[in-house]
Amino acid sequence: MANISFTSSITKFCLITITAILIFFTLSTAKAKNISTKPFQRIYAFGDAETDAGNTKSSTGPTIFRYVSNHPYGQTFFGHPTNRYSDGRLMIDFVAENLSLPYLRPYLNEKANKSHGVNFAFAGSTALTHNFFVNNNLTFDTTPVSLQTQLGWFNEFELSLPTFYRPSVLECEAEYVTDALFWVGEIGANDYAYSYRSSVPTKTIQELATNSVIDFLQALLNKGAKYIVVQGLHPTGCLTLSMEVTPTNDRDNMGCVASVNSRIYSHNTILQAKLNGLREKFPQAIILYADYWNAFQHVFQNPGEYGFDERFKACCGTDGGTYNFNVLFPCGSPPSTACDNPSKYINWDGGHLTEAMYKVMTRLFITGAFCDPPWSHLISKKMQSG
Ligand SMILES: *[C@@H]1O[C@H](CO)[C@@H](O)[C@H](O)[C@H]1NC(C)=O
Ligand SMILES: *[C@@H]1O[C@H](CO)[C@@H](O)[C@H](O)[C@H]1NC(C)=O
Ligand SMILES: *[C@@H]1O[C@H](CO)[C@@H](O)[C@H](O)[C@H]1NC(C)=O
Ligand SMILES: *[C@@H]1O[C@H](CO)[C@@H](O)[C@H](O)[C@H]1NC(C)=O
Repeated sequence: MANISFTSSITKFCLITITAILIFFTLSTAKAKNISTKPFQRIYAFGDAETDAGNTKSSTGPTIFRYVSNHPYGQTFFGHPTNRYSDGRLMIDFVAENLSLPYLRPYLNEKANKSHGVNFAFAGSTALTHNFFVNNNLTFDTTPVSLQTQLGWFNEFELSLPTFYRPSVLECEAEYVTDALFWVGEIGANDYAYSYRSSVPTKTIQELATNSVIDFLQALLNKGAKYIVVQGLHPTGCLTLSMEVTPTNDRDNMGCVASVNSRIYSHNTILQAKLNGLREKFPQAIILYADYWNAFQHVFQNPGEYGFDERFKACCGTDGGTYNFNVLFPCGSPPSTACDNPSKYINWDGGHLTEAMYKVMTRLFITGAFCDPPWSHLISKKMQSG
């Protein structure tokens, strides 16, 4: 009994607090009230290099792509390196543009203005903890950051907010969480890369990595997150790097590395089944699956329709040859050069895609049939709720 009335008085207190905050916002910020023209006021992003907008630097990211702070990274759009692993914008940048929000600033940039959201993504990140790789002697994992680390950063970020923002300390929901879009970018591809041809069974990685993503999402949902987009993995067997290091008889019907792609494909299947379980458990939340695999495959099989004429070769690299990729002299290293027209290439540096490809992918998520449920459903639900 005592417990119930205590909980109920907390709930009342929270409701009063929330109401007070809402009135405060309504009265004091006429511009912010123009909310109805923008579905979201803020985005929080997580993931690996494909979403990382500058949390890693040359010295902290994956070893092969250690020249990310050098020209010609960033040349196409920003005109200078921004520590993004591409020649320009990433999918999360195009998402922010479409929602009329500024580009999300990297969490580790302490001076960045984080009022419209934060980007926690970190190149080289894994779904499984770094310790898993250390304990299994999988030494390719040189990045001590995982999805759990990124959740820890989000918790730190919450604690850094002004206290009036944080009724969550009283276990009720805070607007900066319930109102935000959570973009969970690609995560897990590195887990497979680091354990490739190791003695750790693929099934073990698949089970643990998908569970880790689900645990992470559940933590966000428990905080009150209502709008979440979860990206699947793209066929990493089509990356220049994968093609370069595998025998030519290990190929699938896309002409990509079969042994790599089959593991990635199963991961996506398992993840989607587990997302269904999460949707049942949290029916008030909208959880989109952004089908990166099929969007990528669609473009890979119809490159000309999207302006691409090079699918496998890296735009930026050294030595030309079949793939223009040399592990010793990757993109950004002194002898490397970039192709004249990156927008005709799908692959940028051997391990990551061009801005042109990221732009097409985002368009297919937003307007195409590659989100489940569709992107328009997310936007209309958000607009209905105000
Ligand atoms: C809301 O946004 C529209 C379009 O951007 C603008 O014309 C209008 O003046 C804004 N209203 C307020 C109250 O800021
Ligand atoms: C966002 O994408 C939708 C769907 O393609 C489009 O109608 C809208 O104009 C885009 N908004 C912006 C600001 O680019
Ligand atoms: C951060 O950006 C927002 C919106 O662009 C702006 O209103 C606010 O003043 C900025 N905060 C700081 C500390 O610059
Ligand atoms: C990792 O390597 C250490 C030292 O060589 C060895 O003792 C240990 O059994 C290995 N662990 C696994 C999981 O292979």
